[in-house]
Amino acid sequence: MYHYCLTNTYSFSSSSRDTIAFLDQKDRIIAVAVGRPTGQDGGGDWADVERGVRAALLELQKDFNFREHHERRGDYQSATYGISFGGGQKRPGMLKMSDRNQEVFKTFLDNPYVQRMVGYSESAFASYFPNVYREYVQLFARMADRYPGFEPPMGSHGHFAAMSGNVRRAQTYLHLDEMNKANGICPIFNTGNFDPVKGGHLILQQLGVVVEFPPGTVMLIPSATLVHGNVAIQEHEERESITLYTAGGLFRWAEYGFRTEKDLKAKYPERWAAELKDRKGRWARAVAQYSTPYSLINDRKEALSQIRNDLNSMINHAG
Ligand SMILES: [Fe+2]
Repeated sequence: MYHYCLTNTYSFSSSSRDTIAFLDQKDRIIAVAVGRPTGQDGGGDWADVERGVRAALLELQKDFNFREHHERRGDYQSATYGISFGGGQKRPGMLKMSDRNQEVFKTFLDNPYVQRMVGYSESAFASYFPNVYREYVQLFARMADRYPGFEPPMGSHGHFAAMSGNVRRAQTYLHLDEMNKANGICPIFNTGNFDPVKGGHLILQQLGVVVEFPPGTVMLIPSATLVHGNVAIQEHEERESITLYTAGGLFRWAEYGFRTEKDLKAKYPERWAAELKDRKGRWARAVAQYSTPYSLINDRKEALSQIRNDLNSMINHAG
């Protein structure tokens, strides 16, 4: 069963199998509190997954050498792994980290519970934002086509470019993640030892929504567009979280023919002029990728079939 709503404070039980989809004024699904998977589908009970991911996060907290300063989004620490692009980089690349940190993070990423959480987050993303998901699959397919040997950072089935493991009372002030794709979706998973009725809620400021965020839950939000943050947990409590995301710059770089904006401007002025013209309708096209409850079933079918065609044409092109 799905609940569709516009604004308010929502309780969301830690045993909820229901999913809450938050809609904008045009009934487009723009954020989702994802219910827990049912059954023992080969990966164990979800409570085991939650405990397993928390244990892996606490290992990461112990073994990873964090930077001295705390995060701009809040007073906690964050280990980030994956592909970054932005802030003057000439081309995308893996975020730099020491060999030791890389080894620690890979151990974390290879953890079967973390893998299952990533897989579940990705499935939920594909289910509720099928058209946006297609753009993520296309991006990695294009990168694999262009760079033989390209390895998706989250493993062979993952389509997010980066992951952050956030520890030591991870809770954020209200913020936007401007570097992410404008209509891109970021799954947030949280865990910890806290009372979700008293704190840890996810706040979505523009929607006027405050929703309980119990340990073990996945939330899907457009983190570049919706101002988000948490209600503080209590002084003695602990909370950790994992976020998955892809920098918007990575999509633009592929769209520009695997070159930077600066490069495109300098070497291909006509294409740049067309790009500027195209920008006017970009936002409308981006939000049009969101489904409504009425279009969702059909959007899923169509996006899946388009993804198959995209991948086939790339395989044929490569062959
Ligand atoms: Fe964020």
